[in-house]
Amino acid sequence: MIGLENNLISKYINQITSSKLLAFVGFIIILQKLYKVIRLFLNLCVLGNYNKNLQVYNNKDKSYKYYALVTGCTDGIGLEYTKQLASKGYNVILLSRTQEKLETLSNELKQEYPEGNFPIYVLNCKNVDEEETAKLANFVKNYPLTVLINNVGLSHSIPTPFLETTQEEWRSIIDINCIATLAITQSVIPSIKKTVASDPKLRGLILTMGSFGALFPSPLLATYSGSKAFLQNWSMAMNRELLKYKIDTNLVLSYLVTSKMSKIRRSSLLIPTPKQFVRSVFTNLNNHGGALERYATSTPYWSHAIYHFLVQELFGCYNGMVNLINFKFHLSIRERALKKKAKQI
Ligand SMILES: NC(=O)c1ccc[n+]([C@@H]2O[C@H](COP(=O)([O-])OP(=O)(O)OC[C@H]3O[C@@H](n4cnc5c(N)ncnc54)[C@H](OP(=O)(O)O)[C@@H]3O)[C@@H](O)[C@H]2O)c1
Repeated sequence: MIGLENNLISKYINQITSSKLLAFVGFIIILQKLYKVIRLFLNLCVLGNYNKNLQVYNNKDKSYKYYALVTGCTDGIGLEYTKQLASKGYNVILLSRTQEKLETLSNELKQEYPEGNFPIYVLNCKNVDEEETAKLANFVKNYPLTVLINNVGLSHSIPTPFLETTQEEWRSIIDINCIATLAITQSVIPSIKKTVASDPKLRGLILTMGSFGALFPSPLLATYSGSKAFLQNWSMAMNRELLKYKIDTNLVLSYLVTSKMSKIRRSSLLIPTPKQFVRSVFTNLNNHGGALERYATSTPYWSHAIYHFLVQELFGCYNGMVNLINFKFHLSIRERALKKKAKQI
């Protein structure tokens, strides 16, 4: 009789202990999720400061003392980076491939900001060899640079299986997104280092455009996806190396933005204009936005940030189902593009 009672009591205690343990684990998980939601809210709604962030690399607003260099500056997101930096007192070195476009942009900026300087540098990022790298390093050493915006990028003309991607296309993507970005960055860092060392109040910035195409491995955009994933790790790894020179690195993650590359003209809740997007980048410089799980990285636009956060927290960015949905999304874009092409013939 006593043995039976003891058994029942110990069963009861076990039940209470295991349900308490379960409740405790549940409580910790809820607390952790709540902490992440609060961090997302703080990143997106409280910590951002457009004017203050842009002053860090310029020392004084509207001074036109220091320089930024923007690659792929004549269109889309790069053009908007250039305009917003110029409006905040940065001289801008304009780097892209088309001389006439660069000259027109430089003249327009000079008219709008007569105190500023907007030198041009013509470079086809498809062919950046050692000689070109040395030439650029020689050019930029004459300017007190504090900011480099690695914006230039190329994606596939339409979503295409890797097996059918032409060698010309995948080589161009790697040459522009990876080789040129590394060569330009290596040419520019010594100038930024020197400028920052000359003024104790200054910091330097190397900002690189990443993509949701790499956040979620993207079928039918395999080379683009891989090239941007390369930039993600390269930028994060370099971050630690450059902090001792007071140079920040920031990898910016973006879902679609209206531009020639995305072939989307109308903005929507999930697809901002370059102007809205770049404003969010500068507002959230060195904040995570929705990229809470990775350092020196930001998903700055609010709806992209919520999208990134939800996929990461609910499934994980490398989840197979997320990958299947991504595949179907790109397949439908490919089918529409092929139909459009067929009509044009
Ligand atoms: N748009 C999006 O939805 C989206 C999403 C995620 C990430 N991104 C990234 O954001 C960055 C900018 O994209 P975007 O949509 O603004 O691109 P975009 O509208 O196609 O503009 C590209 C810019 O790069 C220049 N460029 C192109 N090829 C070049 C080359 N071989 N050498 C030198 N300059 C060259 C272009 O010059 P020209 O004027 O002479 O053509 C133009 O100024 C890219 O890195 C892209 O991967 C874009």
